[in-house]
Amino acid sequence: MNNRHGRFITLEGGEGVGKTTNLNWLCEQLTTAGIPFIRTREPGGTPLAEAIRGLLLNRGDETPADITELLLMFAARAQHLARVIQPALNAGQWVVCDRFTDATYAYQGGGRGQDQQVIEQLESLVQQGLEPDLTLLLDMPVELASQRVDQRGQQRDRFEQEQQAFFQRVRDAYLQRALEHPLRFRVVDASLALPQVQAQLTEYLQPLLSEWMNEVSD
Ligand SMILES: Nc1ncnc2c1ncn2[C@@H]1O[C@H](COP(=O)(O)OP(=O)(O)O)[C@@H](O)[C@H]1O
Ligand SMILES: [Mg+2]
Repeated sequence: MNNRHGRFITLEGGEGVGKTTNLNWLCEQLTTAGIPFIRTREPGGTPLAEAIRGLLLNRGDETPADITELLLMFAARAQHLARVIQPALNAGQWVVCDRFTDATYAYQGGGRGQDQQVIEQLESLVQQGLEPDLTLLLDMPVELASQRVDQRGQQRDRFEQEQQAFFQRVRDAYLQRALEHPLRFRVVDASLALPQVQAQLTEYLQPLLSEWMNEVSD
């Protein structure tokens, strides 16, 4: 235990942009650097929140209304924050998370057209001001991302089976978020080969890592 507060890093981007691949790599970097961390994802991250994830992603007989989808996302997030993210940060662990609230702005806001102000209200209710320290947005043209999803070869979930226009709106909304939050976001060109993607990630992680190492040595 120590009294330093951990860092909160989120990876964002549409389907197939390389979030899982690069999170694996990022976790290896943190392990090598000796940084205590947990890896988690949204929607999900606790048993209850993972159950909500199942409700959201499965292609069942009943499609959730847009507002239901939005509320379920934030219900899962509230649980995830209370039980996993906040306790880890308080204990001085880093939290690396596959998607977070920016995904809600991108998918439920951009993709589904839900009112941004409603999302903002839910965000402030659920997060009480907590935000990631760094958000790495993996960005690439939607056609290329869709090819990568096909190459991965798993059955598409309820979001992954959306149409190209939906993913274009998601991408645009993510890029808009990055413009509105330039201090927190770093936009990564994820269309490049993996070593080049990871060179960008290394550069963007460096300030957080240096700051942490300085705190440790104080
Ligand atoms: N830079 C890259 N170049 C080529 N293929 C990649 C690259 N990054 C990831 N992939 C491949 O693309 C597919 C989707 O990557 P994945 O990490 O599952 O994306 P996400 O988690 O964002 O949906 C996987 O088959 C992965 O191996
Ligand atoms: Mg993934």
